[in-house]
Amino acid sequence: MNILGIETSCDETAAAIVQDGHQVKSSVISSQIALHAGYGGVIPELAAREHLKNIGPIVQAALNQARVELQYIDAIAVTSNPGLIPALLVGNAFAKGLAATLGIPVIGINHFLAHIYGTFIDNNESLNNPENYPILALVVSGGHTAIVLIQQDGNAKIIGSTLDDAAGEALDKAAKILNLGYPGGPIIDKLAKTGNPEAFNFPRSLTGARGKPLAPEHKFDFSFSGVKTSLLNTVKSMTHIDDILPDLLASYQAAVMDVLIMKAIAAASEYNARLICLCGGVACNSYLRQNLQTAAEKARRKLLLAPPKYCTDNAAMVAGLGFHYAKNNLLGTLDMPANARLDHNLGILPFAIGN
Ligand code: KG4
Ligand code: ZN
Repeated sequence: MNILGIETSCDETAAAIVQDGHQVKSSVISSQIALHAGYGGVIPELAAREHLKNIGPIVQAALNQARVELQYIDAIAVTSNPGLIPALLVGNAFAKGLAATLGIPVIGINHFLAHIYGTFIDNNESLNNPENYPILALVVSGGHTAIVLIQQDGNAKIIGSTLDDAAGEALDKAAKILNLGYPGGPIIDKLAKTGNPEAFNFPRSLTGARGKPLAPEHKFDFSFSGVKTSLLNTVKSMTHIDDILPDLLASYQAAVMDVLIMKAIAAASEYNARLICLCGGVACNSYLRQNLQTAAEKARRKLLLAPPKYCTDNAAMVAGLGFHYAKNNLLGTLDMPANARLDHNLGILPFAIGN
């Protein structure tokens, strides 16, 4: 079954053709980073205008690269939530129009779940191994930071999430404070490589560190606004930051990532998760990948790191997940809405082994 995936939830216009949920025939991404860089963040209306310009050519490019003609597309999967509404509407209107013209189904995809599926596109067999369940997904992107527990029957539950900023947002805002450019994640990752992560002692929020008691209901939740303020105060107190910039960034990056690692491992142990998967844009981070690997080995948990090309926004993860909805006849409609917010009721995930 050939699924055309379309992604326009933020600042990437992407289209992909994926066969049977795992055979990626094409994955084309047009990034708008340069357009938004000057603002230090994504401007929704500018993003929508750019999607409108790009969506037709990007879908055509995905079809050309896959050498698949429109008549051989079985369904169209499109990110319908969560995301920037003006941006989502472009992809959804395009997908619905094309699906109606071709007389094929349209499927609304949850972008958050698509990020989780990004881990499994090239590792589909892991989903079919009962020994891997429950699976714990650490989803870390510019918009989300959450720990999700997935049972063998597809039941999925968010057991922890951020109370304020997402991990990627914490990195992007730090880069903005320091005038380093946008998006901050990859820039910090690169500059932190030569720094000492122990040079500055930034707080590890919601961990019960520094003698502050941790409320049990926030055991697996995150908070990154405090560490961001701490960075701001540190920067304000210094006259020259150029010399110590790598140390400052390495320490800040470690403060964000150490909490993600600690909580993911603790949750895996509490819920006896057999396989941990790491996904979302921040999953590209070299410190996070390396240190989560070490921590997972120590805790004797299997670990799957989403390949970087399926970490940041792409349409292969959307088309791949779409296949599992199509297979289970869980189709969308031409009047389905687009939603900005993540519905915390994730429903039954159709790619788990029991489905
Ligand atoms: O998944 P994604 O492309 O978009 C959302 O759904 O949000 O994630 C984008 C986020 C940005 O915050 C960006 O700074 C971060 O992923 N990111 C990274 C790296 N590459 C991208 N963060 C840390 N290290 C990286 N190498
Ligand atoms: Zn994303």
